[in-house]
Amino acid sequence: MFITFEGIEGSGKTTQAQLLRDFLVNKGYRVTFTREPGWGILGRLIRRMLLEERDLELDPVAELCLFCADRAQHVKELLRPRLKAGDIVICDRFVDSTVVYQGYGRGLDIELVKKVANASTLGLKPDITLLLNLPVRIALSRIRNRESMTKFEEEPLEFHERIRQGYLFIAQKEPDRIKVINAARGVDQIREEITDIVLTRLSR
Ligand SMILES: Nc1ncnc2c1ncn2[C@@H]1O[C@H](COP(=O)(O)OP(=O)(O)OP(=O)(O)O)[C@@H](O)[C@H]1O
Ligand SMILES: [Mg+2]
Repeated sequence: MFITFEGIEGSGKTTQAQLLRDFLVNKGYRVTFTREPGWGILGRLIRRMLLEERDLELDPVAELCLFCADRAQHVKELLRPRLKAGDIVICDRFVDSTVVYQGYGRGLDIELVKKVANASTLGLKPDITLLLNLPVRIALSRIRNRESMTKFEEEPLEFHERIRQGYLFIAQKEPDRIKVINAARGVDQIREEITDIVLTRLSR
């Protein structure tokens, strides 16, 4: 079972992904927990290029290709092998982030972005995607005091608004896979809804 978390910056993805991991580990499942971008040798290099090099003004096409390079390697070296071994794999961001950020956010041609993004998954699809949905202002206020901001967190409000709407648009088209979670609530309420969704799917 492959579970991904998506949503705008500060929507609570990492918080909820970790809570889900702990819950499933407690239930006795073997869980691999990971995130994009940044896994492995290539991932570490790419993450630095994408998020940390402040003087590097990446062209949007270059940015698209870097995210996708990171993903292909991640799928091949970690996600596929762990899924094959029977683990539940939880990934903090995956292919939908690319479609939404590089397509709706950066304004690249959506069909081009989808093509490259779909190639980057090597055919791997999430069984469940939990989309944490909440107003941009609330999400950004949660991360305002963070010490190190990434480039994306510094984007203007309109950018984050396009991301939020982009996510909702793709969720509408794949309601079976993408579950929209009201993330403006407390951590525990959100956690309960997510564990219900995952347990229901596991018992199928
Ligand atoms: N439901 C919630 N209510 C209030 N605060 C929350 C909630 N969930 C998470 N937070 C807090 O909001 C901040 C952002 O949460 P988190 O890091 O999980 O978001 P994220 O989606 O992973 O962000 P990023 O996209 O930047 O990685 C953290 O300080 C976290 O403790
Ligand atoms: Mg996070």
